[in-house]
Amino acid sequence: MSAFQPNLHIVSMDKLLIQGGVPLSGEIRISGAKNAALPILCAGLLTESTLTLTNVPHLHDVTTMLKLLGQMGVQVSLDEKNGLSLGGGNIHNPLAPYEMVKTMRASILVLGPLLARCGEARVSLPGGCAIGSRPVDLHIKGLQAMGAEIDIEHGYIVAHAKRLKGARIFMDLVSVTGTENLMMAAALADGVTVIENAAREPEVVDLAVCLNAMGARVEGAGGDIITIHGVEKLHGASHHVIPDRIETGTYLVAAAACGGRVKVKDTRHDTLDAVLEKLREAGAHITLGEDWVEIERSGPLKAVNIRTAPHPAFPTDMQAQFMALNCIADGSATIIETIFENRFMHVQELIRLGASIETQGNTAVVRGVPRLDGAIVMATDLRASASLVIAGLVAQGETTVERIYHIDRGYECIEEKLSQLGARIKRVH
Ligand code: EPZ
Repeated sequence: MSAFQPNLHIVSMDKLLIQGGVPLSGEIRISGAKNAALPILCAGLLTESTLTLTNVPHLHDVTTMLKLLGQMGVQVSLDEKNGLSLGGGNIHNPLAPYEMVKTMRASILVLGPLLARCGEARVSLPGGCAIGSRPVDLHIKGLQAMGAEIDIEHGYIVAHAKRLKGARIFMDLVSVTGTENLMMAAALADGVTVIENAAREPEVVDLAVCLNAMGARVEGAGGDIITIHGVEKLHGASHHVIPDRIETGTYLVAAAACGGRVKVKDTRHDTLDAVLEKLREAGAHITLGEDWVEIERSGPLKAVNIRTAPHPAFPTDMQAQFMALNCIADGSATIIETIFENRFMHVQELIRLGASIETQGNTAVVRGVPRLDGAIVMATDLRASASLVIAGLVAQGETTVERIYHIDRGYECIEEKLSQLGARIKRVH
């Protein structure tokens, strides 16, 4: 089975069984960033030539995106080094059907590229998800500013544009995929596009690097004003996807929570300053290397206050993991979630493990308890699942995490990597 074929077990209700209470030690390798790979796969739609990608993570969301692109006409092939090649020469079906979009919101990222390349697109509205309503109004507004005709028909975004025109676009909210969609659309537009209040996430920068390698002219990515000079065509390129900063942060938090000494390799630390600062504040000792981060925690764990915000502030995708850490830290801490309106789904599950947490709107107060006790808990979304795994690793006794298909969407081989660190964890079908 090729690495990108959907793993059969994902569709069944797999569980993770964890015997908690052991410190972690050893080394693991970090995979490519899911949230960089997904928009970059869509960039393959922008060229008739071949886009070759390395360090693409083997995740369910990547498999879903490849299936989506394949049914549009993109030729997907794997070469021996596990590189992935996308041939965009024959896009005959600019459609993202509901059945696929409902399983992965990131499918919306095909909208901009399809409009830029084919002049038309039919993309199902993603619908809500566990962590919030997550509308795509900013994507649509930006494309309309570039001259696209867009209607909503029977739950689908139906878009047409002979040729998109450069425009000045102010994003009311900072939107990661909104910025990425508009950046890709602008790459082939006629004229200059300026995106103001753009997302500054490293994954936006990685997409810009890939687009520029394909002949685009994107300037300012990483800042809040991005300027794109549209060009006639984009050519093929090779691109190495950046390491996953959220996967990195997740394993660092697991090590801080369990105690011990862990080295995460093939990663970058310059995209994680806010997270590293909070880990130091919690009492962990961090050593930084060229492409690795080592964490050691042997002393007491201190509760840390968290407030999520767009990059470079503390990432919302690390909020649930730090909540697990705070559950067993000394003292109380406040966690404020400013990005999504319902990203506390892990709270009730952590309470089942013995945590002491109170929520009021987008604020949670966590009072550290001396220990957690293993229980059966249920994953509800990707990062909430990671939070439950971390809590299970520190809880006394056995924890069963159910519905871990959520976790397989964003963490490659999580039980193998944690087992390498000495965790007592296994997947049961
Ligand atoms: C991206 O989602 C990530 N997904 C999310 O990671 C991440 O949590 C999020 O950015 C914030 O960092 C991918 O990159 C594939 P947004 P995205 O548009 O782009 C509102 C994970 O765990 N908004 O930055 O969908 C929205 O409701 C996932 O890997 C609008 O109102 O998030 C939210 O409150 C979860 N209208 C806020 O903006 C819009 O048109 C930020 O959303 C778009 C967004």
